[in-house]
Amino acid sequence: MEYEISDKLKSVHGSAIREIFELLKKGGIISFAGGMPATLTLPAKQIDGILQNLVSKYGVVECLQYESTFGKALLLEQLKKFLPEYKGINAELQNMIILSGGQQGIEFMCKTFVNKGDVVLVENPTYLSTLQIVQTYEGKAVGVNSNNDGLDLADLEEKIKTHKPKFLYVVPTFGNPTGGTYTAENRQKIAEITAKYEVMILEDDPYSEIRFEGKAVPSVKCFDKIENVVYLASFSKIIAPAMRIAVAVANPAIIGRFNISKQSTDVCSSSISQLVVAEFLKNNLSEHLKNIIPIYKEKRDQMVKCIDKYFPKSFKYQSPHGGLYVWGYFDDDRDLLAAFKDVVNLGVAYLPGAHFFPDGSGKNTMRLNFSNATLEQIEQGIKAIGEYFS
Ligand SMILES: Cc1ncc(COP(=O)(O)O)c(C=O)c1O
Repeated sequence: MEYEISDKLKSVHGSAIREIFELLKKGGIISFAGGMPATLTLPAKQIDGILQNLVSKYGVVECLQYESTFGKALLLEQLKKFLPEYKGINAELQNMIILSGGQQGIEFMCKTFVNKGDVVLVENPTYLSTLQIVQTYEGKAVGVNSNNDGLDLADLEEKIKTHKPKFLYVVPTFGNPTGGTYTAENRQKIAEITAKYEVMILEDDPYSEIRFEGKAVPSVKCFDKIENVVYLASFSKIIAPAMRIAVAVANPAIIGRFNISKQSTDVCSSSISQLVVAEFLKNNLSEHLKNIIPIYKEKRDQMVKCIDKYFPKSFKYQSPHGGLYVWGYFDDDRDLLAAFKDVVNLGVAYLPGAHFFPDGSGKNTMRLNFSNATLEQIEQGIKAIGEYFS
């Protein structure tokens, strides 16, 4: 039969990255395209230990029943310690809701606030899935000019005045795709400008603990004077993506609305996952981070060294101080979307940066993930890409 897709979803295409992953499944390809944590950083032994006696420790109801949509008390209590210690944010119970991954927070923000035709301001470039989610809710993503220090504040103010956006979406620390980190001044100004026009902010922060150098910068949420900032912290990159656990921190009225959104999406986040994350935060996180950060730093160092050695000088980039990505561009107008398949045929993959731009520009940009390849693969793959473009 012919399936008639809803008007709402007809124009929403599958994520370009997911399609690229399918292509790369053929095997034998060194991939810098993904955004996955390195398998060797996943805490296999610790999770195994936690799971072994989870049900006998907490009982069948705590582990295997439906849970409150807001989240498990045990995890929320741990988050009251985690958020100030790691994120500099104080949150009471009424300010938090547990989510099934940070991505669910982006979805709930759109589900809750976006009407057909509404504008959502995003960084230019921005996290690809946010573009897909905004489109799913029939909104329109408009890019605000940005560089490694943060948003162009004049452009932000101008676009707020022109588009009256529903919210601004930002990843201010070790952003995806750029790896950049906004300065504290830029964050404060973003909070001030959005407060002046009463525009909400969705601050997405899945990477800030993966820092190799420099000092932590306060979140935009720390400058939030009128409670217009919704803050997302995810455990995918610092524990494991399979937990599917994140937390949103916001004014209770917004948390209440997210609660209603979540009821119709998935009722509640997995009880088992919530307990595992609670146990991990209590007993393992600080030690785990001490172990994994040097692993990522070594990979970052190797990628940067190899880019300097093998890429033509027309490739411009900044070494990221944390996170999982190197972002760069050729200053001679090459089309990295067009070149992608040729390079894959050489046995190596980057991610064409154009996918991250709301207006489809950025054809000369690429994102290189350094977390998943070995040091030898990084050298081999970067050499192959460098030689192709030389
Ligand atoms: C900026 C950003 N937000 C959200 C996500 C989704 O994370 P989660 O696994 O918590 O849903 C990712 C994953 O790569 C990301 O890079």
